[in-house]
Amino acid sequence: MQVYEPDIEKVLLTEAQIQAKLVEMGEQITQDYADRSILLVGVLKGAFVVMADLARNIRLPIEFDFMAISSYGAATRSSGVVRILKDLDHDLDGIHVLVVEDIVDSGLTLKYLLKNLAARKPASLEVAALLRKVGIQKVDLDIRYVGFDIPNEFVVGYGLDFAEKYRNLPYIGTLKPAAYGGG
Ligand code: IMP
Ligand code: MG
Repeated sequence: MQVYEPDIEKVLLTEAQIQAKLVEMGEQITQDYADRSILLVGVLKGAFVVMADLARNIRLPIEFDFMAISSYGAATRSSGVVRILKDLDHDLDGIHVLVVEDIVDSGLTLKYLLKNLAARKPASLEVAALLRKVGIQKVDLDIRYVGFDIPNEFVVGYGLDFAEKYRNLPYIGTLKPAAYGGG
């Protein structure tokens, strides 16, 4: 029995739907990159769940690397400025880089990150995001692989947290108002 279950208002994407989509995305990536090797770059912490399952559906040589970033306050966040708390271990020069994201919301974090990574001269730089909230991206972003377009609701599970909880749910859902701590 899932201990968090009473906090969930509704399930938006079931475990089976997510896993089926990751098989599709993995097959597409396997075809697109043919016999090249890829460096998967994950942004901590949310991306680690998607990354683990997506990678097992890609039939190519893969290496993994992670970045940790933090945005400052709400004001700075809207400018898209983020601070790198942990940088990559890999040198990206000449490497095929695929950034794996759990969710693209405003897109500001990703925009900043892509600019930063592009400056390191990778052979290619693409993005695979499991979720994209529709109609609210503040910046123009070319996301090569998108799992699901979802409505603009706050979701948890499958790597996504509220106050660091719920990342381990195998599905994606919304929270009951009481679970936000308001009562
Ligand atoms: P963006 O810069 O607005 O695109 O924010 C992206 C980051 O915000 C994601 O990587 C998540 O960590 C977080 N985020 C955005 N929407 C949600 C959500 O619905 N649930 C949980 N985290 C979210
Ligand atoms: Mg978060």
